[in-house]
Amino acid sequence: MMLPLALSLALLSPAVAAAESQRPRSVITRGDGFLRASVNAISGIPSLRRRQFEAPVSNHRQGTQYAIDVDIGTPAQTLTLILDTGSPDLWVNPSCTTANIPSECKKYPQFDYTKSSSLKTTGFADVLSYGKGNVTIEYVTDTVAIGSVKITEQIFGVGLESHDIPLGILGLSPAINPKDPDLYPFVLDTMKSQGVIKSRAFSLDLRGVTEPEGAIIFGGLDTGKFVGKLEKLPMVDPSQIKSGADRYWIVLTGVGITLPDGTSDRSGEIEVAVFPDSGGTLSRLPTPIFQAFGESFPGAQFDPTSGFYVVDCDVASQPGSVDFYFNNKQIAVTYADFIWQVSGICVLGVLPDDDEPVLGDSFLRAAYVVHDQDNRNLHLAQAANCGSNIVSIGSGSNAVPSVTGDCTAAPSATKVGFGFDATATRKPNNIFTGNSPDATDVGPGPAGGRSGTATGRLPGATGQSAAGRNTLSFGAAAIAAAAGLMML
Ligand SMILES: *[C@@H]1O[C@H](CO)[C@@H](O)[C@H](O)[C@H]1NC(C)=O
Repeated sequence: MMLPLALSLALLSPAVAAAESQRPRSVITRGDGFLRASVNAISGIPSLRRRQFEAPVSNHRQGTQYAIDVDIGTPAQTLTLILDTGSPDLWVNPSCTTANIPSECKKYPQFDYTKSSSLKTTGFADVLSYGKGNVTIEYVTDTVAIGSVKITEQIFGVGLESHDIPLGILGLSPAINPKDPDLYPFVLDTMKSQGVIKSRAFSLDLRGVTEPEGAIIFGGLDTGKFVGKLEKLPMVDPSQIKSGADRYWIVLTGVGITLPDGTSDRSGEIEVAVFPDSGGTLSRLPTPIFQAFGESFPGAQFDPTSGFYVVDCDVASQPGSVDFYFNNKQIAVTYADFIWQVSGICVLGVLPDDDEPVLGDSFLRAAYVVHDQDNRNLHLAQAANCGSNIVSIGSGSNAVPSVTGDCTAAPSATKVGFGFDATATRKPNNIFTGNSPDATDVGPGPAGGRSGTATGRLPGATGQSAAGRNTLSFGAAAIAAAAGLMML
């Protein structure tokens, strides 16, 4: 007898139910010049609305990451990878014994490179560092497919040793250091050069676990998934960023909050460079903004031990939003999407960061974001779900069409001034005194350095060496040359 899905999940043992909910389902659509693939939240409960169908909270892993299924090699092996707009590289095979939660890591298949007839080794190795964790990889080239769309001779890393990262990563950011002499073509570059998409652009629509599914569309956007016009925001040039890192930096011009009674307030004009990062579970914002959110959020108490603002989980079901402004565009993140449940405790999905502020998944669940690397713009709108109408992104300076979303906006809140100050730091009004949450399992966060110091040959690799070289000194330009690839 077939039970309705929700009911059958509830009847399964908690462990099985949890495992089931962690398997992303891939739905792939291919059209003219675009490719749409499912992106699903795995292992975690970003939204609390699903509680009645979930295993007890204590049985859950604490974090949330967004994953995509990618087929690698010949014959294809399907791997589940973290979709990360905060780093550029593709790599597979994390070391599960040194992952943050080994048992979770072990649930996902690894790439058996000895079984791929199209794999070529390069002999080049590298260490990639993230906000949390790192991986030592050896570069190989092989076929990479998402659904029916295949790119060949893609350079990517096979993990030799990694720390604190539970899944391989599909990175979609620009090169962090554009002047790096060792750049090689990333997946988005190859998709364009091999004609899968017309420009290096994709849209991303992340969802909570309760939503049917989120999606990434390479080379397209879906007007059935947002409200109003897309706001075009130029990517800030890395020369204007303290760290010099090139990321999807945009300027946040205001923040505010809407309370359950429908009143709302926003800060004065601010100018803060932030970047969206789908690999970051939490948002990390300058201290005054972090404190402004915490001190105005209903019932929030600051926990000095963990550094989080702790809230009553029931607030997640109340109307209200945490609001972000980019010029005239408001992105309202519902309380349910902004609150993160970690080891049974509910916290605001934000921590302070005065160096490289990030808009993580706790923001991205509310936003529809088109990333246009060729023209260095992001296009942003409030995410919604009112059907599907995929529009291709062409090439040239107006490649991303100036379209309006098909969805209608929720009624706007009554603005009242209750003093939302996003520029001054302050002492917390209420201190949390209960058990502190333990947030060991956040996403990898943004890419940091790349250091070509590692050496290594993949044990047992039978694939043909790309150029018969086994040089241990690093040079990605040399990798590309060794693999016989054109540099972009
Ligand atoms: C990677 O991270 C681990 C654990 O934090 C650390 O011990 C190790 O030194 C790092 N490796 C490199 C090459 O940075």
